[in-house]
Amino acid sequence: MKKRLRIVAGNWKMNKTYEAGRDLVMAVRDSLGPSEVVVIMCPPYIHLKPASISLKDVLNVKLGAQNCHQNEGGAYTGEISASMLKSVGCEYVILGHSERREYFKESHQLLTEKVKAALENDLRPIFCFGEKLDSREAKKQNEVVKKQLKESIFDHFSKEEFANMVLAYEPVWAIGTGKTASPKQAQEMHKFIRSLVAKKYGAETADLTTILYGGSVKPANAKELFGQPDVDGGLIGGASLKAADFVAITKAYF
Ligand code: 13P
Repeated sequence: MKKRLRIVAGNWKMNKTYEAGRDLVMAVRDSLGPSEVVVIMCPPYIHLKPASISLKDVLNVKLGAQNCHQNEGGAYTGEISASMLKSVGCEYVILGHSERREYFKESHQLLTEKVKAALENDLRPIFCFGEKLDSREAKKQNEVVKKQLKESIFDHFSKEEFANMVLAYEPVWAIGTGKTASPKQAQEMHKFIRSLVAKKYGAETADLTTILYGGSVKPANAKELFGQPDVDGGLIGGASLKAADFVAITKAYF
């Protein structure tokens, strides 16, 4: 049995109106049952407070946000700070998602600042990274992933700080495409990521690091992916929007 936390997190992205989101949270809550996996729901900001009320007494279901600003407060119209997220019951925050890197031009340096802000406010970052298709085709995926981790994380955070992070490998070519990484591809990359963590922070830290896989995870492929020794769960996009699919994925470990 792995000692590290096993996590299934749902990234709703920009989906669900207020009512539809409330229904989804309640449907997941009511059909989840006891779970050894930590389930994290990451809805858009408007759902966080009502979800935290609905999930108040539910063990093993946590709340996460999809982003935060790097500063504590001030004149940043439209933004949300880590302390605000904490104040509505968030425990996690997704940072570095490829959609943020691509559409909002988030750089390695900015991501470091956001991770710092999250940690300072007692939020656990779910730090996402992964190569694009052209890098995979050129067999440069390891190089890309190493650079993403080094520049945003390894060069800036201590072992103690790193211990509060969750990593999420999300190959960009697998996100929303229906083209999942094969279990073998996922395992190879996760093993490589764990070796990078070991080199930087030591074997014990590496062994305790939760590394999630994201990219077209569905009930049909979750079991095989999660069965890989270095895959500790998933970050789920599309399939987290349907309660039955998301709950089925949380049960894929057993
Ligand atoms: P899909 O599961 O829709 O491919 O999205 C994955 C993802 O981006 C999760 O953050």
